[in-house]
Amino acid sequence: MNPEIDLDKIDMNAEPPAEEPARQYYFMAKCREWVREFEQKNGRRPTAFTQTFGCQMNARDSEKLTGILEQAGFIETQNEHADFVIYNTCTVRENANQKVYGHLGLLKHEKKSNPCMRIALCGCMMQEPGVVEKLKKSYRFVDLVFGTHNIFKFAELLYQTLNSKEQIIDIWEGTEQIVEDLPVERKYSFKSGVNIMFGCNNFCSYCIVPYVRGRERSRRPEDIIREIETLAADGVSEVMLLGQNVNSYGKTLKDSISFGELLRRVEKIDGIARIRFMTSHPKDLSDELIQVMKESKKVCRHLHLPLQSGSTRILKAMNRKYTKEQYLELAGKIRREIPDISLTTDIIVGFPGETEEDFLETMDVVKKVCYDNAYTFIYSKRTGTPAAAMENQVPEAEVKSRFDRLLNLVQENARSQTARFAGTVQEVLIEEVNEHDPSLLTGRMSNNLLVHFPGDVSLIGRIRKVKLEVCKGFYYMGTLV
Ligand code: SAH
Ligand code: SF4
Ligand code: F3S
Repeated sequence: MNPEIDLDKIDMNAEPPAEEPARQYYFMAKCREWVREFEQKNGRRPTAFTQTFGCQMNARDSEKLTGILEQAGFIETQNEHADFVIYNTCTVRENANQKVYGHLGLLKHEKKSNPCMRIALCGCMMQEPGVVEKLKKSYRFVDLVFGTHNIFKFAELLYQTLNSKEQIIDIWEGTEQIVEDLPVERKYSFKSGVNIMFGCNNFCSYCIVPYVRGRERSRRPEDIIREIETLAADGVSEVMLLGQNVNSYGKTLKDSISFGELLRRVEKIDGIARIRFMTSHPKDLSDELIQVMKESKKVCRHLHLPLQSGSTRILKAMNRKYTKEQYLELAGKIRREIPDISLTTDIIVGFPGETEEDFLETMDVVKKVCYDNAYTFIYSKRTGTPAAAMENQVPEAEVKSRFDRLLNLVQENARSQTARFAGTVQEVLIEEVNEHDPSLLTGRMSNNLLVHFPGDVSLIGRIRKVKLEVCKGFYYMGTLV
């Protein structure tokens, strides 16, 4: 939040300012006025619910939505029984879309019992023309639809929708704009995502992200540093730098800068104890980055390095721009340079044309790298991507069998990799009270493993040393030392 702006001092009789973010602050003040009137009429403040689907980028975007709702005076709720409901959607795989349509059925019902309710949809799925057509035709009860490029306009769109009975649709095809200094309501007080870039230029042939998130744009390093300094002053000790491919950070800026250099600068910020980042594309992971990670006291011992496939032939069809051998060499180098690092990955099974031999190449890489963890996905055809037009879609039964075999291997590896830390003492950031047993706290190690141990709630947000006593497969039970 820009500390210099006091919403109550904004002149609401004036015309809305043209420049950003002043324009959005003006509309936040307008929304606040609307909330006051609502309160006078109903004897209570309006409630709002934000639901996030998809990746960490979306989670961070949702914190911006919540920040604006909070500034306007809405009270946050934890379920759809609310006056304003917004879904921040994902479309990376078809089942992400299905989930949203499923929830919409529920909302239609909810709206019948609260006719003043307003429903909004935003995020990646809204950037697909087919989806918007469907909403226009068959989901008239949705009041507001906007996309990924104009999310900064949320305050303005919220104000419009609160004062209109029409379905409002505002989708942009792209943008060059990055609007800084909008309010954010963080989910955790002690850790935060920080966008360092938006969009993606890689066009992996299966992936819809470049179409729905637009071209790659990096934030200026000084804006990123300023944001992290403010976060640190507000009690944040762990930051996760976010981008679809952080390894190409800064290349298109006027004063170009490497991702390694950005990490060095973030490292210097007092109060920040841990730095994570997501995601690294193997094709341009530099030696500089490995060096920075190796030397750093703050960059966490975890690297997510999506493989997607172990077959050079399939990797080519995927447009990933590396071979099986190059990937293995890179993973080997990282394990050699930083032995205690945890390596995780994403793998797609059943890409068009994938044969049993191709699949066995993937299994071979998984065996050799022995990932600490891997996210496995069944290929999902995304309209508009090059892979959707490819022939030889793999039969479902075949995909299922490969998926199960891969999952078994991945889990076996994850168990043995997890077990290698048994008996050691690790620093953990204490994140929350254990969901199943309130006498336990849950802490996250630098390598992203979780440990549960007895402790007092007051420790949440602190970094403490914990002895890893018992390995439970993918996590540990431990004690504070
Ligand atoms: N930018 C990140 C990935 C973002 S999407 C990267 O390049 O690593 C997250 C993961 O979803 C991808 O790594 C991929 O494994 C998976 N994915 C993307 N498109 C998919 C599709 N069409 N079907 C199945 N999985 C997909
Ligand atoms: Fe998708 Fe590839 Fe971009 Fe990742 S790098 S978001 S998988 S196109
Ligand atoms: Fe999904 Fe969009 Fe992220 S499609 S994975 S929410 S960038």
